Amino acid sequence: MHARPIEGFGLGLRVEHYQALAEPLDPTLRPQWLEIISENYLVPGGKPLHHLERLRRDYPVVMHGVSLSIGSSDPLDRAYLRELRALAERLEPGWVSDHLCWGGVDHRRLHDLLPLPYTEATLRHLLPRIAEVQELLGRPLVLENVSSYVRYAQDEMGEADFIAELLQRSGAQLLLDVNNVYVSSRNHGFDPRAFIDAMPPERVRQIHLAGHEDQGELLIDTHDHPICDAVWQLYAYTLQRLGPVPTMIERDDHIPPLPELLQELDLARQLSRRVLAGWQEAA
Ligand SMILES: [Fe+2]
Repeated sequence: MHARPIEGFGLGLRVEHYQALAEPLDPTLRPQWLEIISENYLVPGGKPLHHLERLRRDYPVVMHGVSLSIGSSDPLDRAYLRELRALAERLEPGWVSDHLCWGGVDHRRLHDLLPLPYTEATLRHLLPRIAEVQELLGRPLVLENVSSYVRYAQDEMGEADFIAELLQRSGAQLLLDVNNVYVSSRNHGFDPRAFIDAMPPERVRQIHLAGHEDQGELLIDTHDHPICDAVWQLYAYTLQRLGPVPTMIERDDHIPPLPELLQELDLARQLSRRVLAGWQEAA
């Protein structure tokens, strides 16, 4: 089976929804594709893989990893990459993504997605590593912008310019997390629309939407709330700039029943329809 096209609106697959997704769903509301967390399916023969194989008959999938640690100074984990490739060969996903971050040092995993210093030296560190991953996986790597709570004194450029430069020089593609852009813009005081403006439209492969927690001084990227108004507005702006991009909702905590999440996904679908009607007229 070859990769099936990924279009429209998807959901992050969570264990809580295995059963509901296997049932027939309203065709106007059902997700058009699913994003899996790759690490949950790396064990051959496991129960999660059994469920996924069944769902995959009805839903094309994309793979999203959390442990690549592309920015770390440790060597890339080739055993992990071989497992990832084997899973990709089995699932034929639309694409394989992970985060533009580091998550460990000296072979110790920190289990966090930490931001990188936005410098020329970091770009030069990342380029051969991205090339190695793309070679080992036999496909372009899709990288996601993370939300952040700190920045580095060494930064030579803003995050948006750093990402645009990296995409141009590496051939990698972007998973644009609109919630992460908003969270970081509030935490660091930059203009989220200027960030979107700096993204090369032809490189944006996918969009994530999610909810966060507003702690006043700081926004925390918790994925446990519905999407807030400001993120919906930024999503509308993103679509005006980029045109149609496959979009999905991530929910990792306080996971509601599937119908509730499908209603939220339908808000994205309707908003996209309204925005893109204007976009196509203007194009
Ligand atoms: Fe995300």
